[in-house]
Amino acid sequence: MTEPLIPQTEVEALRQEVAALRHKLLQSQRLSTVGALASSVTHEFNNILTTVINYAKMGLRHKDANSRDKSFDKILAAGQRAAKITTGMLSYARGRGDRREPYDLVTLVQEVLVLVEKDLQMHRARLETNFSEHPQAEINAGQIQQVLLNLIINARQAMPNGGRMLISVTSNRESGFAEIGVRDSGCGIAPEQLKKIFDPFFSTKQADENGQGGSGLGLSLCREVIEAHHGRIRVESTVGVGTQFTLKLPLVAATAGSIGPTKPMQKVG
Ligand SMILES: Nc1ncnc2c1ncn2[C@@H]1O[C@H](COP(=O)(O)OP(=O)(O)OP(=O)(O)O)[C@@H](O)[C@H]1O
Ligand SMILES: [Mg+2]
Repeated sequence: MTEPLIPQTEVEALRQEVAALRHKLLQSQRLSTVGALASSVTHEFNNILTTVINYAKMGLRHKDANSRDKSFDKILAAGQRAAKITTGMLSYARGRGDRREPYDLVTLVQEVLVLVEKDLQMHRARLETNFSEHPQAEINAGQIQQVLLNLIINARQAMPNGGRMLISVTSNRESGFAEIGVRDSGCGIAPEQLKKIFDPFFSTKQADENGQGGSGLGLSLCREVIEAHHGRIRVESTVGVGTQFTLKLPLVAATAGSIGPTKPMQKVG
């Protein structure tokens, strides 16, 4: 019998090293998306502080109970908004380990939107949502949030002069998949590039003034995360019209078909 070229123990050690490096890459890409949002979050905090300062001044100036109550209400609401953003940002940056659990996908999308709303507003990207159902999937919420953030940042970057973005959550009971859609009215992707967008390091972008963007790792990691969840990632695009990414994740059987509050479908494009 011939000896294997590489001993089995070495193969196993290399396999573990690759797994550890993949994990680290995912973690550092997560921090890079936090970086991409830093400037819009700072802006939003500035606005919140302006509200707090102005209402504190008003409360000091007007001694009557009505004005003071109104000031306290405004200060409280501004403080709560700031707390929601910092909590979301911290929990996203920390990650939540490798555990998977049944998670409501609308809640997941809403948690991501808290982080990106200001960024979209600053770039004149109008956000529309369609959450006609509340499907649950067994996921690692931190990782799927990372995928969504990547898709949303890509969509925003595809609309340098602003535009519309539609985020939808639906479920298809026949196929047994929940679907999250991210659609933009941006530049679109030419057919010859469409074949390459999930390849590691494929990018058509330059890093911006903060050194963000253009590594070409976003979509390759998205695909890896979604496939590890036994899901699928699909893309359809028309140059000059826009792009639609769809994430399909296996529904949690027990809750498949749970219907949430309905909002009418809003059309984009
Ligand atoms: N919504 C979109 N509209 C148009 N082109 C897109 C869209 N999403 C992705 N692309 C194209 O796919 C390429 C690869 O995307 P990917 O997210 O992997 O990398 P990147 O955005 O260039 O860099 P990084 O995500 O590392 O900052 C992009 O450079 C862009 O050409
Ligand atoms: Mg990207």
